[in-house]
Amino acid sequence: MMQADTEVHKGLEGVIVTESSVGFVDGQAGRLVYRGYNIETLADNSNYEEVAYLLLYGHLPNVKEFENFRARLRTTMDLNADVVALIKSIAPKAHPMSVLRTVVSFIGAQDQKSNSTDLRDQEEMSLKLMSKLPAIVGTISRASKGQDAIKPDPELSYAANFLYCSTGKRPDKEHEKIMDTCLILHADHGSNASTFSALVTISTLADMYSAVTSAISTLKGPLHGGANELALETIKKVAKPENAEHVLSEMLAKKEKIMGFGHRVYKVYDPRARILKKYAESVTRRNGKEDLFRTAEQMEKVMISKLGEKGIFPNVDFYSGMVYDSLGFDSRMFTPIFALARIAGWTARSLEYIRDNKLFRPKAKYIGEAGPKEYVGIQKR
Ligand code: CMC
Repeated sequence: MMQADTEVHKGLEGVIVTESSVGFVDGQAGRLVYRGYNIETLADNSNYEEVAYLLLYGHLPNVKEFENFRARLRTTMDLNADVVALIKSIAPKAHPMSVLRTVVSFIGAQDQKSNSTDLRDQEEMSLKLMSKLPAIVGTISRASKGQDAIKPDPELSYAANFLYCSTGKRPDKEHEKIMDTCLILHADHGSNASTFSALVTISTLADMYSAVTSAISTLKGPLHGGANELALETIKKVAKPENAEHVLSEMLAKKEKIMGFGHRVYKVYDPRARILKKYAESVTRRNGKEDLFRTAEQMEKVMISKLGEKGIFPNVDFYSGMVYDSLGFDSRMFTPIFALARIAGWTARSLEYIRDNKLFRPKAKYIGEAGPKEYVGIQKR
């Protein structure tokens, strides 16, 4: 029987697919909440490991819980020789997101427990992956430039270890704080496309490595994680504040989307962009790239005057790229850095989902021919 007419929710816009107590995005108020805490509170007072614990276990850790969690991450933070060799063999030519996707999948294939659907094993896989990501992403960054891997330092924080594994230098407090804040701001963000991909995969009772591999694949696209790379390209193309008006007008006249602006959920200023803008100003000033910031600031003014009434404002990706650029990262590393942070949200929400699992199986409205048509052999077509 043909399907009756039903309303189609393209892109699942507005469809509530599950309940979650991990985090919440209020797109009208411009508010982002992790387990009841405003993002501004966490960015000012917390650190990435604490926030990851909060997202995974529902409360901020006490001293003992925090030490145990950090110790747990330390035990599996190193990469084995096969993983380093894999990264070195593919990173010089492939996009870092393709390398990251392949490495996570490879680590899953090396783990004997990856066929287990036991919740404790899934949690174990989550922590193992999280612990390795600073070294994985750092090694990808170095290998893409032909540099050797650096072993993570167990004394360093997640953010500092990532910078150390990328640059070979232990960062100072200011750079560590900026990196840490970027990671906190990207740790979770409601039912975004990559998180939803993770949930779809985990709902089949596949393992956490598969769920994270799906999520990384989804994050790669320019409408999601890939936007920060393109946003910086646009800022560099505009080059000077006085060019903002005419370059953006030309792009908008050609119906081009300006990367780093607009959001499916936020119809006001993205609170993450507000926090990052502050850091973008200080880090660009410190590292001699202030022109970039001044250009971006002018682009923001022009965009808000033209599209603000449509609810188009800067999103997190508009300023994050500039911050990473000032920290010395190649623009191709921006989306892997996003993944380095989002691992917390992907795994927290996947673990939450499988506690009360239901296989995802939406429908598509059939608009093809009703048939039944007669089969004509290949020679007669
Ligand atoms: N530049 C120019 N016009 C825009 C933009 C933009 N960045 N974003 C939206 N619009 C226009 C759009 O053309 C449409 O105009 P009209 O009403 O004339 O058709 C209107 O605003 C509504 O846009 P939409 O595409 O229906 O909005 P959406 O909710 O489907 O899209 C979006 C959200 C993020 C896909 C879109 O804003 C976009 O493509 N932005 C650029 C990519 C980007 O920065 N993505 C990162 C998102 S933040 C990271 C994350 O959380 O994943």
